[in-house]
Amino acid sequence: MSMSGKLMHAVWYDSYGGGSAGLKHVEVPAPTPSKDEVLLKIEAASLNPVDWKTQEGMFRPLLPRKFPHLPGKFDGLSVRINCWDVVSKQLGAGGHLLDIHHHGDKVGANQHAADFKKQSKYGFMYKDLFVGTVTDAAGEVLEVGPEVKNFKVGDKIVAMLNPTGGGGLAEYAVAKQSLTVLRPPEVPAADGAALVVAALTAHQALSSVRIKLDGSGPRMNILITAASGGVGHYAVQLAKLGNTHVTATCGARNLDLVKSLGADEVLDYKTPEGASLKSPSGQKYDAVIHCASSTPWSAFEPNLSPTGKVIDVTPVLSTFWTYALKKLTFSKKQLLPMILTPKSENMDYLVKLAKEGKLKTVIDSKYPLSKAEDAWAKSIDGHATGKIIVEP
Ligand SMILES: NC(=O)c1ccc[n+]([C@@H]2O[C@H](COP(=O)([O-])OP(=O)(O)OC[C@H]3O[C@@H](n4cnc5c(N)ncnc54)[C@H](OP(=O)(O)O)[C@@H]3O)[C@@H](O)[C@H]2O)c1
Repeated sequence: MSMSGKLMHAVWYDSYGGGSAGLKHVEVPAPTPSKDEVLLKIEAASLNPVDWKTQEGMFRPLLPRKFPHLPGKFDGLSVRINCWDVVSKQLGAGGHLLDIHHHGDKVGANQHAADFKKQSKYGFMYKDLFVGTVTDAAGEVLEVGPEVKNFKVGDKIVAMLNPTGGGGLAEYAVAKQSLTVLRPPEVPAADGAALVVAALTAHQALSSVRIKLDGSGPRMNILITAASGGVGHYAVQLAKLGNTHVTATCGARNLDLVKSLGADEVLDYKTPEGASLKSPSGQKYDAVIHCASSTPWSAFEPNLSPTGKVIDVTPVLSTFWTYALKKLTFSKKQLLPMILTPKSENMDYLVKLAKEGKLKTVIDSKYPLSKAEDAWAKSIDGHATGKIIVEP
């Protein structure tokens, strides 16, 4: 089914900052897949803290890219870019306008900007147009680009949308076939969308310390911080597929949940024992999967085994200093910053684990697309248990 020119409901933001109040509901043409992309009808999208951190300017000036930053590719993009040139010239340097414009609309080279706005079919004009970079989605394939070999119309899939463009807060989105996997009927759309960035991050962190998830390999003592969060709750379950003893930290209200996910020992992070990160049974950690933030090296150091490694998925500038210092001094205890490198074979593996019931998704809350700002606010609040889902 071609969506060419059809309008969809989407949510994005058009400037840095503003939190949930900065999100805007718009109606725009559905994106068109390029040769190696699929168009999907989104059934569920999941939020990650990186989505609102990007809005806060975490990756400034790299992301969001300046003009225009759209959720995937819309019909008539080339027409709009031509129009953009015309209008920008007419308005001068300060007047950056972009019209969300239908393919069939024509704009003459000597048209005035006001006419341009009046004539435009949808009338949206944005300064510094950005989109919420929500990348995790599950849905059904509606169209495939000519080079797409592994998917066909009607397939149920899980996809990581363009990491720099996102586009998950919408009814339709495009995804590269290279970051798309099939979703079996046993895996609900919400669970599929939930596991993309969060479970991939947990998987990569555990793999980086060579924990073998088939249970082979030497016994390892692991600490997982923020084990009630999106990444942490997957990390606990994946770690327990390996030959590990898992200590985990979370808030008091989630102690039982985290134990039920498989943690051997659980610490309430708000107590002095929890803050010390000390294992109640006196284990020294061979590896820490650090999903909380703002923990100094001095808190980890006394709890590590002689070759213990901290995989920090929330690195800040000081993490990189400590990392460099430990390397330069040939320290056997190390702090290693980690950034996700998404791979479809890992996505496929995680979806299969979900299908087999070996990787469960805890869903904190679900919101309709019309209330996406509430989902955004919940994520910013930082107290989700598991994953936050948005459904069109
Ligand atoms: N490096 C990468 O590529 C990468 C990839 C994905 C995520 N991340 C980062 O990893 C972090 C975790 O992501 P997420 O999706 O898991 O976040 P999340 O779901 O928003 O985490 C929220 C959970 O963390 C718990 N928590 C907060 N502070 C804690 C602490 N000091 N000790 C123990 N638990 C604590 C909260 O418990 P309470 O409600 O009880 O406070 C809540 O359940 C974020 O900073 C995210 O940006 C990085």
